[in-house]
Amino acid sequence: MTDDVLVVHGGTPLEGRIRVRGAKNLVSKAMVAALLGDSPSRLYDVPKIRDVEVVRGLLGLHGVKVTDGDEDGELVFDPANVESASTDQINVHAGSSRIPILFCGPLLHRLGHAFIPDLGGCHIGPRPIDFHLQALREFGATVEKRPEGLHLSAPNGLHGTKFALPYPSVGATEQVLLTAVMAEGVTELRNAAVEPEIIDLICVLQKMGAIIKVHTDRVIEIQGVPKLHGYTHRPIPDRIEAASWAAAALATRGHVEVLGAQQADMMTFLNIFRSVGGEYEVTDARPPKLGDPGQEGGIRFWHPGGELKSVALETDVHPGFMTDWQQPLVVALTQARGLSIVHETVYEQRLGYTEALNSMGANIQVYRDCLGGTPCRFGRRNFKHSAVIAGPSKLHAADLVIPDLRAGFSHLIAALAAEGTSRVYGVDLINRGYEDFEAKLADLGAHVERP
Ligand code: EPZ
Repeated sequence: MTDDVLVVHGGTPLEGRIRVRGAKNLVSKAMVAALLGDSPSRLYDVPKIRDVEVVRGLLGLHGVKVTDGDEDGELVFDPANVESASTDQINVHAGSSRIPILFCGPLLHRLGHAFIPDLGGCHIGPRPIDFHLQALREFGATVEKRPEGLHLSAPNGLHGTKFALPYPSVGATEQVLLTAVMAEGVTELRNAAVEPEIIDLICVLQKMGAIIKVHTDRVIEIQGVPKLHGYTHRPIPDRIEAASWAAAALATRGHVEVLGAQQADMMTFLNIFRSVGGEYEVTDARPPKLGDPGQEGGIRFWHPGGELKSVALETDVHPGFMTDWQQPLVVALTQARGLSIVHETVYEQRLGYTEALNSMGANIQVYRDCLGGTPCRFGRRNFKHSAVIAGPSKLHAADLVIPDLRAGFSHLIAALAAEGTSRVYGVDLINRGYEDFEAKLADLGAHVERP
């Protein structure tokens, strides 16, 4: 643990420019989709993060040859020799990510059976997979839970189905998409998630030959096809990473330009950012033309000086305020005058990290009640899922232990905003989802060092 620590000398505004690449929560799924093709796929702008390495390892175990392309961040997947992997081999990846659950449909199509190890991912609630398993059974898969993991088979193939999700789960929607595209017949999914990363996954599958219609009111209809080919795709940028750096700029009274950030996918975040008193300017991308090198698009975020304003926000499925934006932004809210209110409606236990902020001088109370009007599954179930943040508070340095990816980034922001020297333990967890974050911190003038 001691070598996994970052020493942060806080109190310096972050100033400068960084770039975000393909969204972690699309890239990893697009990589799984490559399993479904009968020819190679090519994915650009893939960030060097741990989740990508896990999926790359799992694809390799199943016979997909993954190679680096000519461009930095380009990966090529050759699924010509898809094969079964042994339970022991697969289990090396147990507990490292939640992506393996999405291998179910593609492996059932390609091999007729699948083994899925114990899942990992962030500890932000129980994170069950009941919707996934229910959907797979609807398609005709048999699912057997054994101590070492899940064994699935589809002795009679997979068949289209009509299915409604109890909640618009991102992962379960992806599970249905990755299974339905090659299932026989038509699938109708109701109450589907429609996050931009899901729409981008649909673009990937459509490029492969799938027929998918996105109707109004969260209904997705998929016409199964007998075969899919490879794709070439440049993913949407990581809007969670972009918002994290924006929140860091605000909390440290700095000025950060995030190249690659896209306005359309961040509208809800931008509205809250402006309501808190942060300022931003969008630069649209301009393609190169003769005599004009073009321009990379992005968003510049800054603290305009003076006091920030308190806000009330509720996390929600798209197009609501993303749950993954919540933790980084709350650090900035500790600097806003008055009472800010956060109602977390996606995960039941995603406010635990506020204790660490309080140990640094923040004043955050968490409540079991729903402090907001968005219908929520947790109100009557005794989960502390609402927070009231009283500010502004002067943050001071502390020793912090990172609990999960997004909370980890919020600890880091708090340490950067605080006066004095903090030690942040467990920082390697941040590499799961933030490419080169230490190099980016250096580019932004942060005073951080490995002891
Ligand atoms: C994805 O997780 C993301 N992860 C999460 O990002 C993100 O927070 C989440 O979507 C919501 O946007 C990846 O894409 C790898 P869900 P996922 O299924 O798909 C409940 C990050 O930091 N649920 O939409 O696992 C669940 O418990 C991560 O990048 C069930 O009850 O999220 C949760 O309360 C963290 N049963 C809610 O639905 C199920 O079978 C939403 O989860 C599935 C989900």
